[in-house]
Parts: sequence; C-alpha cells; structure tokens
Amino acid sequence: MRIAMIGSGYVGLVSGTCFADFGHEVVCVDKDPAKIEALNAGRMPIYEPGLDALVAENVQQGRLSFTTDLKPAVAQADAVFIAVGTPSRRGDGFADLSFVFAAAREIAEAVDGFTVVVTKSTVPVGTGDEVERIIREIRPDAEISVASNPEFLREGAAIGDFKRPDRIVVGAEDPRAEESLREIYRPLFLNQAPILVTGRRTAELTKYAANAFLATKITFINEIADLCEQVGADVQQVARGIGLDNRIGAKFLHAGPGYGGSCFPKDTLALVKTAQDAGTPVRLVETVVAVNDSRKRAMARKVVQACGGSVRGKTVAVLGLTFKPNTDDMRDAPALSIITGLQDAGARVRAYDPEGMEAAKPLLGEVAYARDAYDCAEGADALVIVTEWNAFRALDLARLGQIMADRVLVDLRNVYDRASVQRHGFRYVSVGRPD
Ligand code: UGA
Repeated sequence: MRIAMIGSGYVGLVSGTCFADFGHEVVCVDKDPAKIEALNAGRMPIYEPGLDALVAENVQQGRLSFTTDLKPAVAQADAVFIAVGTPSRRGDGFADLSFVFAAAREIAEAVDGFTVVVTKSTVPVGTGDEVERIIREIRPDAEISVASNPEFLREGAAIGDFKRPDRIVVGAEDPRAEESLREIYRPLFLNQAPILVTGRRTAELTKYAANAFLATKITFINEIADLCEQVGADVQQVARGIGLDNRIGAKFLHAGPGYGGSCFPKDTLALVKTAQDAGTPVRLVETVVAVNDSRKRAMARKVVQACGGSVRGKTVAVLGLTFKPNTDDMRDAPALSIITGLQDAGARVRAYDPEGMEAAKPLLGEVAYARDAYDCAEGADALVIVTEWNAFRALDLARLGQIMADRVLVDLRNVYDRASVQRHGFRYVSVGRPD
C-alpha cells in the first residue's frame, strides 16, 4: 500500500515508520521545513528509543521518505492518515481541530483516485463526519472514504506498542475503508492482534474513553495513596492486592505525583467538554481532572513538609523533569508545577534530566541545570525524584549522603525502599507508604 502520513509528530512519525517497516511505501509530510530537513538528515525531532535506527533502515530500503510537499504524497497514496496535533483550545479545553480541518482541505485539493482518509490523531466524536463534509464540499468528485483509527501507543515505548498492540480499533462506515485498513495492518494479524471494527463515532469515543479510564485509575490509586499515608497502610501492597483481581488489572496502579503528558490531561478535558455539550456530563472524569491538577501542586507542599516545614533559602535538587522516563516531552509534566511551587515557597531549585532539560528551559524560570544526578545533589538540602528514569533507580546513596548539605530524599515515584535509604542516614519520604 502507498501511504501518506500528514503530520510527523509523535504519532505520525512512529506510525509512518512502523507502516514502512511492515513493507508499505510511506511518505511522511510535515509543514515544518526544519523538521523535514532534520529527518532527511537522519536526525530525530523527538527522543524515542529505537526510532532513529528504524527510520534509517526504512529510508535506506526506500520505503520511507519525508517531505513538506503534501500534494504529490496524497495524490499517489491509497491511504492518507491525518496525524496532526489536536492541542487543548485556550479557554474552554476543547480539542483544537484547526490543524485537522486544514489538513482535510489540503487533502481534498490533492486526492486522486480512490483514497481512504484516516484520522489517527485523537479527535472528538463527529470529527470524521466533518472531515468527510469538508472534503466532499471542496471536491464533490473525489472518491474517498473517511475512517477513524485511533492510536494507543505510549511515549517511550512507542515502537513496541505499535508493533504489539493490545488491539487495533477501526471505525469505518464503508467496507472499502475497512478492507484497506485490514490490508495495512495485515502483518500484525499474524501476531494475533485483535481488530475491532466499529462505526466511526464509536472508534473516536473509544480512544477518549480509554485514556479517561486510565487517568481515572491513576487518580484513584493516588487518592488511596494519600489515605494510606494517613492510616499507616502501604499503597504498593494495596495496588498489588487489588491488581491481582483480573477484573481490576495490575497496570496503571502506580501512585505518583499525578499524570502528565501530551495525552491524558488534554484528552480528559476534551471528553469533559464533549460530554457537557452533549448534555451528559462525565462527572467522574471532571473530578479526575480537578484532583490531578491539585495533586501536582500538593507535591511541592509534600517536599516542603519533608524539609521540616520550610524551604526558604534552601536548595532543592530535582531529578527528572519529563512527564515520564524515556521521552524528552515536558508537556503538562508534574515537575513544572512542583518546581514552581518550590520556588514560590522560597527554594532555589537545581534540576537534572537525561533528555528533558532543553525542552524544560523555556518553561521554567531561574532553575540551575546540572550535568548529572550527583552534580545536581551537590550541597543540596533535599533531593526529589520526580521522574523514574533508570539512571535514578540505583543512585549511590553513600556518595549522595556525603555531598548533600542535608540528607532528605523525597521519592515521588516510590523507586527506593525505606530501609536501604535510611541506612545511609536519610530522611525518606515517598508516596503512600508508611514512615
Ligand atoms: C497515554 C496512553 O497510555 C496511551 O495508550 C495513549 O495512546 C497515549 O496516552 C495517547 O493518547 O497518545 P502516554 O501519555 O505516552 O500514553 O504515557 P503513559 O505511560 O500512559 O503515562 C501517562 C502519565 O501517567 C505519566 O505522567 C505517568 O507517569 C503517569 N502514570 C502512569 C502514573 O502516574 N501511574 C501509572 O501507574 C501509570
């Protein structure tokens, strides 16, 4: 199949590269010439483990190319995927669909012959209908079928998630679209990946429901963690105790500083807005959004408390800035609220992140950036682990104890066990585990 991928961000670039790896002929299109130039020179615009090698291999095999020129890419394609950004709209939180609709207009001008147009970006219910209306209005003669094929990959594990998905969801109103998508994903069916074919609106909503459910699961365990701290219980054991029940499942029950990233915060807000507009508010998700927002700020207060009630004039070393490990993505990262909260409380903040510091700099004021974890901790009054990068899982605590001004370790990801930290003379504060 010949595929045009419109938008070479996270989802577009990973999906396009994996489709090429399946053997399809893929052209990734992006409006940003700097991004395309970088990709053509073999430089990745994002940090994602394994992506550079996979891109290089498929470019070399002649199956993958990058361009700013949408027209020929779409004209030659059997399937065009829309994978442009859908950020939260300022003010009301609804997904900003202007990039999706702009792509639809450009696709309409360019399509040639029967083409399946697929929305891969996370888009609110009814967006597929609007994409179809736009294309048909501009090109009544166009032979198109519009389908929805939401993506469920996680940053940092994107290639593995794409190639070994729990399921593929296809929303199609026309058997020809379904057939094309089955053909595109055929290599995955050899691995028994289940495919769920639904109506277009159902597929669109499935994506939001999945992300909102996962965000709810995290928020649930975070609130249980707070309760554990008050009553002397251990949230990790509670999570294991409930997660072993297959009806609940063990995943996404890791308590922490609150969810962040480019998806959960934006998608939960958009679902809330869609449901309000439909007259059926999802009050549970509304609460999840509010609880998660306040949790990030509460984490700064937790650090202040761990420092004896004040951080005024103290130096706090923050390890991990990105919203999760193995990405350079700073979008809605808990570190942003935590660092701002610490600065508001009078702390000097020093930070280190293996990949996220460049992206963090414009978002944070007055932070000193360190070369590594130990450079970050040197002379600090407290060390806070905000993101669980592997590099922070086996720190030399004896060395940290020697170089820090005060031995306080706040572990917001529960990567250490209390006894091993206390052995080195640290005051240890974690999430939802008894003191
Ligand atoms: C999420 C979903 O997991 C993907 O299935 C989906 O495709 C993607 O959004 C999307 O809509 O594009 P992602 O945002 O990359 O993927 O990252 P996750 O691994 O889901 O983590 C999201 C946040 O939840 C992170 O801040 C993470 O630290 C937090 N989290 C996750 C927890 O606090 N506890 C957990 O147990 C799991």
